[in-house]
Amino acid sequence: MHPVASPATGRGDDASLSLHHLLDPEVLANPYPLYRRLRTEDPVHWDPFLHAWVVTRYEDVITVLHRFSAERAPSPEYFEALGAPEVGPIARVMVKQMLFMDAPAHTRLRSLAAPAFTPARVRVLRDRIQNIAADLIDGILARGTGRMDLLADFAEPLPAIVTAEMLGVPVEDHVKLKDWSATFAQMLGNFQHNPDGLVDVLSAVENLTAYFHAAIAAQRKQPREGLIHSFMTAEVDGDRLTDEEIAANCIVTMVGGQETTTNLITNGALSLLRHPAELARLRADAGLVPSAVEELLRYESPSQHTARLAPDDVMLGGKTIRKRQAVIAVMAAGNRDPERFPDPDRLDLGRSDNRHLAFGWAAHFCFGAPLARLEGQIAFEELLRRFPVLALTDEPLFWRENLGLRGLKALPLTYGART
Ligand code: HEM
Repeated sequence: MHPVASPATGRGDDASLSLHHLLDPEVLANPYPLYRRLRTEDPVHWDPFLHAWVVTRYEDVITVLHRFSAERAPSPEYFEALGAPEVGPIARVMVKQMLFMDAPAHTRLRSLAAPAFTPARVRVLRDRIQNIAADLIDGILARGTGRMDLLADFAEPLPAIVTAEMLGVPVEDHVKLKDWSATFAQMLGNFQHNPDGLVDVLSAVENLTAYFHAAIAAQRKQPREGLIHSFMTAEVDGDRLTDEEIAANCIVTMVGGQETTTNLITNGALSLLRHPAELARLRADAGLVPSAVEELLRYESPSQHTARLAPDDVMLGGKTIRKRQAVIAVMAAGNRDPERFPDPDRLDLGRSDNRHLAFGWAAHFCFGAPLARLEGQIAFEELLRRFPVLALTDEPLFWRENLGLRGLKALPLTYGART
């Protein structure tokens, strides 16, 4: 049995504090008041609707990411218990992904993957990212309508194409890879809350797995530069990745790298357009772009929360979290914690000491952070350079119903251009 009311405050069963409300349209549009209430009223909160603890203070989020177990992928038995044994293939892929492992299995996988993804390799991608961004903007300008959907026209294809190149698969496959990974991301963002939706992702996972196994087989005959080949040849102390591990981690890298980067670009553009003085500051000083990207990641974090399991009975914020209970660490709430960030609801592109939680913390700190930062920086540099005027339209904005991965369904903009 899970405790419902918190022994310390008696408020743990306050239904209005449930993260479940993230599906309410007004909370989805602006979750930060809910996060503020959680942080101030019940920072280590038992959410009876999600059957999980919800942790919202910066320091507590770090403790959870640092000390708690990441081994939370649902097992095939879990799906059997749900009456959906056919979903087992999803579990078999997830348990091989680094995101869902603890040391020593995680350390082994990450150290085998690390040589495939060094900052030096990322630097090589810089010119390509710049060219892809320029081509996408050329396409928008060629239409000559003065209007665009920043999401569909730029923020989705940019990471999708970059990811295909990074993996070393044919670039023309980026559309289907994007489709499959969007379906998988829908589950990753929501699975603690909506296990029923898992059946929908089954075919995406099967397609992705088959695709990567075929790519591995093709590259055995004809190697191609990229992450797949690096995974295939990585060796640490005689240890190699199996084909299943390569496919599973190509999937997590691809999914992890697309939706989030897309959302960094659109959420970031929206934040800038809602803060014209900050946008003007950035236009006046391109040197501010790297710190602006960090602040945009803090302010509207693309990955709002993640989950862990308590390794033992643990005391946190005066509450006892029982061994194996689920804990949702809300990075986006920690990123607005006034104990850590002065005036946290203010967008300040020059903010110093900005060690935000948007890429997570500790062992699972985002594997692709150097690439994400580079893509974000190039995207904003190019957008501001090529579009001297950018403006929101009066069309309403809708957020995706994905609790973990925060992003818009579309971002219609008008522009004035420099060709
Ligand atoms: C703005 C873009 C991105 C954001 C906000 C982001 C966020 C995150 C976060 C929060 C985690 C940790 C999750 C946890 O601890 O449970 C993570 C892990 C990960 N990310 Fe990213 N990510 C981004 C881009 C990328 C890119 C471009 C790639 C690949 C090229 C990538 C690949 C991964 C992988 C493989 C992991 C798992 C690392 C591990 O478990 O050791 N991410 N990311």
